[in-house]
Amino acid sequence: MNKNPLTIVILAAGKGTRMKSNMPKVMHRLAYLPMIGWVLKNAEALKPKKIIVVVGPDMPALEAACKPHTCVVQAVRNGTAGAVKAALPALKNVKGDVVVLLGDTPLVTPQTIKGLIKARGKAGISVLGMRLSDPSGYGRLVMNKDGSLQKIVEHKDASAAERKIDTVNTGAFCIDGASLERWLGKVKNNNAQKEYYITDLPEIAAREGVATHVALTADPDEVKGCNSHSDLAALEATLQDRLRTQALQSGVCMHHPSSVFLAHDTKFAPGVVIEPHVVFGPGVSVGEGSTIKAFSHLEDTKIGKEASIGPFARLRPGADIGDAVRIGNFVEVKKSKIGKGSKINHLAYVGDTDMGADVNFSAGAITVNYDGFDKHKTKIGKGVMVGSNVNLVAPVKIGDGAFIAAGSTITKDVPKDALAVARDAAKVIKGWAASYRKKKSKAKKK
Ligand code: UD1
Ligand code: MG
Repeated sequence: MNKNPLTIVILAAGKGTRMKSNMPKVMHRLAYLPMIGWVLKNAEALKPKKIIVVVGPDMPALEAACKPHTCVVQAVRNGTAGAVKAALPALKNVKGDVVVLLGDTPLVTPQTIKGLIKARGKAGISVLGMRLSDPSGYGRLVMNKDGSLQKIVEHKDASAAERKIDTVNTGAFCIDGASLERWLGKVKNNNAQKEYYITDLPEIAAREGVATHVALTADPDEVKGCNSHSDLAALEATLQDRLRTQALQSGVCMHHPSSVFLAHDTKFAPGVVIEPHVVFGPGVSVGEGSTIKAFSHLEDTKIGKEASIGPFARLRPGADIGDAVRIGNFVEVKKSKIGKGSKINHLAYVGDTDMGADVNFSAGAITVNYDGFDKHKTKIGKGVMVGSNVNLVAPVKIGDGAFIAAGSTITKDVPKDALAVARDAAKVIKGWAASYRKKKSKAKKK
């Protein structure tokens, strides 16, 4: 690897009109992380001196997502060379390698970028290329006989013969920092889109007798760009495959991997089992030996060891599930701590609750945590038995070992080891049903 100082410029000023969305293109998410987050993650792994992101005017969410890196605004969206020009004030006296990455090409690995930097060597520029069976839409790499690059022609400007070239520009460049400003000054916009193209730089450098080298990527999937929602879905598929492979290799068992959806930061301990059709939103960690059963949806949740979740469980932000806990079907848990060994096996809602160990929270029981204005807390001690169809109206505290009778609506605290019943006593009238049926059938015959 070169010892040159490294600066990375990420181009992300485009609105992404082809996405037909109000959001800047690079804010669309992949595995719950904005596209720009993936580009930054990969750029950071190269430990550059500086990362500069070129953004468009009025993109506050994008600027926030780029923190703590420098953002510069490209006031007029006049092309990829225009975008690098906008970064020049932040690049003053830059020396060494300037790597330019496209914000809409998020899966390029640090390893591949290292190859691009290496390929520049003593040349003025290196370009990351890929070979595609369908190269349409991409800029074509027109090569010299000696293997160096003659020029890049954009699809819209290419002749029929040039369009047959299947080696294309991925958009990633490594450029000699000392020459960058001079070369950018020579870029013109006499092309189909009337834009200033970064892809003109190899031809401009060649006029000075400076060569451009091409580094070819082995895996075209990693350098595919995103210009439409179909592209975004294809990138997501590639990324999910990567994430699942990493999980499988780390010792996670998945019965049907392609039906499991992961987030960029999902953490699994070894020995975790995941059944088909499970969605992991951001911020989930699962402890050793736990099983996540089919059709469960989890986000911002911590799960301990040997727990069993689902099928059809919904764990919402702030769920902190202890070791050996059982969460069954149609159970929703939000912002709640569930103590070791507790069971919430069917049809329940637990929100804003601190539940102790070994609690049994029966079918149909819920915490009533919202009064229409504010959220309130429920505290359930250890070993409590909460019967079926119980409403615990928060704020409320249930002492250790208490027993809440089925069907009760509890509006005041229950002390340790007490029984709480809050329902009408059952009324039993002997023979009533038989005489009712008799009366009804007589009436029908009339
Ligand atoms: C670009 C390349 C093309 C390459 C393809 C790879 C140019 C002229 N073309 O085409 O050779 O094959 O990427 O995906 O470079 N951007 C700005 N400011 C601008 C214009 C664009 O910051 O004024 C940013 C966009 O936000 C985007 C990136 O640059 O992240 C690429 O722009 P886009 O319009 O998608 O270029 P492509 O047509 O894909
Ligand atoms: Mg693009």
